[in-house]
Amino acid sequence: MSFEIVFLPGDGVGPEVAAAARQVMEKAARRRDISIAFCDYPFGGAAIDQYGDPFPAATKEACVNAHAVFLGAVGGPGWEGGDIRPETGLLELRRTLGLFANLRPTRVMPGLENLSPLKTDSAAGVDLLIVRELIGGLYFGDREEGLEKASDQCVYTRNEVVRVARVAFDAARLRKGRVTSVDKANVLATSRLWRNAVMQLHQAEYSDVMLDHMLVDAMAMKLIRAPAEYDVILTENLFGDILSDEASVIAGSIGLAPSASLGEGAAGLYEPIHGSAPDIAGKDKANPVGAILSGAMLFRHSLNSEEAALSIERAVDTALSDGAGTADINGSDGCRSFTDKICKLIE
Ligand code: NAD
Ligand code: IPM
Ligand code: MN
Repeated sequence: MSFEIVFLPGDGVGPEVAAAARQVMEKAARRRDISIAFCDYPFGGAAIDQYGDPFPAATKEACVNAHAVFLGAVGGPGWEGGDIRPETGLLELRRTLGLFANLRPTRVMPGLENLSPLKTDSAAGVDLLIVRELIGGLYFGDREEGLEKASDQCVYTRNEVVRVARVAFDAARLRKGRVTSVDKANVLATSRLWRNAVMQLHQAEYSDVMLDHMLVDAMAMKLIRAPAEYDVILTENLFGDILSDEASVIAGSIGLAPSASLGEGAAGLYEPIHGSAPDIAGKDKANPVGAILSGAMLFRHSLNSEEAALSIERAVDTALSDGAGTADINGSDGCRSFTDKICKLIE
């Protein structure tokens, strides 16, 4: 049996980092006799230019039927201010596939503590998993555009909170057993529902997991002051977007951070958390690690191959500790030579 992976290079550095991840995934699959087949489809700004639609019907159909979807990144200055935005395609993709749980791990790799802008002893031992709700909240409420008055509605239902909280508690059981649920319950009604739903689920089914609650402003501060204290951070869509960019820098660069977006089944969407990085696009400067580690997550969560996932993660760790890397992590490699080095290390 061959696993079908829909491949969406997207815009800016998207095609560069996605090609890097594909090269590494193909090597890891060959080594373990796993048969994977990538199929390219237009998406994002590139699809707007070609078809006037960031998420054309043929791309949608392929995504719905795939075992997994791999995405580089979308967006860029060329499409800002236009009627249709590339980002709309990404939101529609996440919603079409029902991907309510976005896993965004951050780990300070051993020996690379000096990459962190934090003091070495604060950065040491950081190993976080942000579980971000991905298809609710402000991103998907009614929106009213306007230059005098505009609004974005934030809605959460108990069921939407419970299903993503379950993912966080299950993940914590396999890690250090701690969930910090982040909200703004001192102000927002949706946050009070969030807190209540998380607490009830915890009491009913997950009392073996340690749970605490933190307001998002305090969390933003504590992430910088004492990031190693946290294990799983569970939060709503917008807060998770912001906190995950912040957390990525603790490890050294946003270019290192991967993600997996999951729904009810095994099919998922895998993408680095960074954007299209227009400032470095087309220059072979992008750090491919976030994309490559997203490929490892694809093997783990959609292809049920922990071994292939670990082989990729070990190769990245070794390449980094050997001193390989792109400019954002003080290395002298380009995206391509860094990828070749990682590829050679896949066992
Ligand atoms: P960005 O993540 O693209 O870039 C922020 C900064 O990080 C830039 O200085 C960039 O050079 C750097 N950076 C990002 N990825 C890097 C990598 N792999 N290696 C080295 N450096 C890297 O964020 P932005 O500039 O705010 O957004 C640019 C565009 O990307 C916007 O259109 C935005 O909507 C879009 N975006 C898309 C996604 C996605 O596709 N998932 C995510 C975030 C932003
Ligand atoms: C991300 C991005 C997206 C988000 C944008 C491009 C819609 O910032 O994946 O983190 O806000 O979710
Ligand atoms: Mn983001």
